[in-house]
Amino acid sequence: MILVVGATGALGSEICRLLTTSNRSVRALVRTTADESRVEQLRALGVELVPGDLKDRASLDAICRGVATVISTATTTMSRQPGDSIPSVDQDGQLQLVEAARAAGVKRFVYVSYSSHLDVDCPLTTAKRSVEQSLARSGMTYTVLRPSFFMEVWLSPALGFDPQNARAQIFGSGQQKISFVSAKDVARFAVACLDNRTAYNATIELGGPEALSPLEVVHRFEQVIGREFTVETLPEAVLESQLAGATDPLQKSFTALMIGYARGDAIDMAETLTKYRGELTSVDEYARRDVGSGARDAGRETSGASTH
Ligand SMILES: NC(=O)c1ccc[n+]([C@@H]2O[C@H](COP(=O)([O-])OP(=O)(O)OC[C@H]3O[C@@H](n4cnc5c(N)ncnc54)[C@H](OP(=O)(O)O)[C@@H]3O)[C@@H](O)[C@H]2O)c1
Repeated sequence: MILVVGATGALGSEICRLLTTSNRSVRALVRTTADESRVEQLRALGVELVPGDLKDRASLDAICRGVATVISTATTTMSRQPGDSIPSVDQDGQLQLVEAARAAGVKRFVYVSYSSHLDVDCPLTTAKRSVEQSLARSGMTYTVLRPSFFMEVWLSPALGFDPQNARAQIFGSGQQKISFVSAKDVARFAVACLDNRTAYNATIELGGPEALSPLEVVHRFEQVIGREFTVETLPEAVLESQLAGATDPLQKSFTALMIGYARGDAIDMAETLTKYRGELTSVDEYARRDVGSGARDAGRETSGASTH
């Protein structure tokens, strides 16, 4: 039995889909407050749904019983309920999960952290690195995945990257290289590493197939949608002063991630790709497949622009 914690999230739900497609038995921790349509999707996949919360140790002890493998993707950064915070969920909650899994005799644990280049001091970095350390000491066979920025999040309107309206907010000068990665590829790695011995007791940095600067990314999207973007940059110095003034752990952590983005996050995937099958999604593919068509249609409607 494989337990997925974070199963109602973007990454966790894709992991559940991949696992059930390959006929694995999957249990998911589901909060009573979770979005009903996401819960329904998991139910339709045949996932066993068990109520729980990372802040509730008893629920973690119960849900880990009979489990061989835990995959945890949960985070409170975009998904908060009263009482949730980065210290209470991403740190203490994940540490409790590691301890509950160890106590229940779980053998294998896959934890989704983030890239080593994002080590700007903030509550989320403290949480991620302390969970990584506790896992390494736990005695369970662990894999820590350290992905770069997800295309689906950082190249989306939620973060000011809006192909539909040909606008982009980028952090830093725009020249720094970042290995934007598709969350779908991260899900694929999380599943592939279960049976890959090179992933045992390993920490794996994960990026997309090429490191591109945000300005290069904008250019790739311009080619797909056939319109020029309006680009607004937020300099690193401005982000640094925002970080110095931030008091809330979430605000601090988001600002620190933007600083990490402004400094760049290039990840060389050559060696990792020798150990795993499958292709990584490029920014061009992502632009064409997931975003490009909608933005291109919008561009035709508003400006009649041709592609260039
Ligand atoms: N976004 C990026 O660019 C990026 C880059 C590198 C690494 N990562 C990491 O990737 C991972 C997955 O991200 P994602 O996009 O899938 O996040 P997401 O869509 O926001 O999903 C978060 C999940 O965590 C669950 N959760 C939140 N608080 C919880 C609690 N108290 N107890 C139990 N579960 C709780 C949520 O449950 P509910 O549905 O009930 O709220 C949801 O299932 C995270 O660890 C993140 O740090 C992200």
